[in-house]
Amino acid sequence: MVNIAVIGTGYVGTVAAVAFAAIGHQVTGIEVDPVKLSALRTGTVPFHEPGLDERLRHELAQGRISFTDDLAAGVAGTRVVFLCVGTPPGPDGRPDLSMLRAAAAQVGSALADGAIAVTKSTVPIGWGGELRTIIAGTHPAGADARFGVVSNPEFLREGSATHDFLYPDRVVIGGDDEDAVDEVARMYRPILEQTFPGGNRSLQPALIRTDVATAETIKYAANGFLATKIAYINEIARICDSAGADVEIVAEAVGLDHRIERKFLNAGTGYGGSCFGKDLAALSTYGEDHGIELPILDAVNPSNIIQRNQVVGKLRAALGDLTGRRVAILGLSYKPNTDDLREAPSITIVESLLAAGARVVAYDPIVKGLPTAPGIAIARDAYEAATGADAVVLVTEWSEFDDLNFRELSRVMAGDVFIDGRNRLDPAAVTEGGLRYMGMGRR
Ligand code: UDX
Repeated sequence: MVNIAVIGTGYVGTVAAVAFAAIGHQVTGIEVDPVKLSALRTGTVPFHEPGLDERLRHELAQGRISFTDDLAAGVAGTRVVFLCVGTPPGPDGRPDLSMLRAAAAQVGSALADGAIAVTKSTVPIGWGGELRTIIAGTHPAGADARFGVVSNPEFLREGSATHDFLYPDRVVIGGDDEDAVDEVARMYRPILEQTFPGGNRSLQPALIRTDVATAETIKYAANGFLATKIAYINEIARICDSAGADVEIVAEAVGLDHRIERKFLNAGTGYGGSCFGKDLAALSTYGEDHGIELPILDAVNPSNIIQRNQVVGKLRAALGDLTGRRVAILGLSYKPNTDDLREAPSITIVESLLAAGARVVAYDPIVKGLPTAPGIAIARDAYEAATGADAVVLVTEWSEFDDLNFRELSRVMAGDVFIDGRNRLDPAAVTEGGLRYMGMGRR
């Protein structure tokens, strides 16, 4: 058991805090926002993540986790301090490190002798060096301060975050000091050996021990590759649309090659979320700052925006001028099982539709409005959204849309266009229901 402090209880911080408690560590979560703090103390997670509230309540009841807004008190006496503060995209594409720098300075002044500062936030490559300088600058022992600096990036997906944390493919620990890496690796032993209650002994997560800069680069390289893979299949889907080919069969066949594999080859309305767009922008700005040409990485985000707008192009092709046309949007969150709207394709699609003069009615199982388009109507279910609509667009593949009754949709709609923005539905079933099916690169 190790005493751990987790600074910042956003997505990554809350999941990490709860998961570290679940594998037996004593965790103090540090949160400055009073509303979030009181929610967490009473066992309520301030965002939607399936199963996390229950796990949090369990760990609170076991006494393995507590929350405070007093960073100095929370950090003093802990061996390992995880920095999980948000690094949102700044106006120029570079991550905004102001909150992280402020937290690091406070950590420095409270860090116990020999303790380790671990960065979990996604940070520009090279941050580890800056973290060392910031801590040394505020540590009471000044230049004589003894502390470790480690990078331990996180690869969790929203909607399955706790599972991803507890059952990872790999754990990456980068440090400039072997002892610090050893200590963080020991903390992860219950996960690496799957010995925590509920662990899966047949799983053997890899441990990647490396230096700080390599660990920081691994995070960007993984997200950059996944985003590129999605943008790539979406470009193939555009070719399929033009050629009358079927991207689903293309992806299946291509994915059977073990060197490529089928995962993350799902064509759709493009990727969203807080990571992919931001991390690619950070890679591009790294190239700019260091004079490195990165034409592939530079092209991925622009390609993704083009993909989001394919839906509007398809609506124009089917309906002509969109002025006054009514379009129902099914799904607003950037992916199912989350209420997160950051970089959601729905935002771009709705904005383009409104700019084209269309009227938009949306329905999402959890999200009840688009802050960027407060004027759009929000329906209580898919059928209410579709009532009187010329077209329905499935933007986010929530599982409840798998059971749509297409006859009923067709009965309440004014038109018959159905765009399956995620290639999720059976085209034959949609057509049999009396609707005109259009997928993304799908026949
Ligand atoms: C991602 C990474 O998967 C995770 O490892 C990282 O740490 C954070 O970013 P997340 O954003 O939660 O996680 O979701 P993910 O499931 O990866 O999906 C991201 C976006 O890509 C979603 O909008 C999703 O709809 C889209 N996507 C995913 C596709 O369009 N096609 C695919 O084949 C896969």
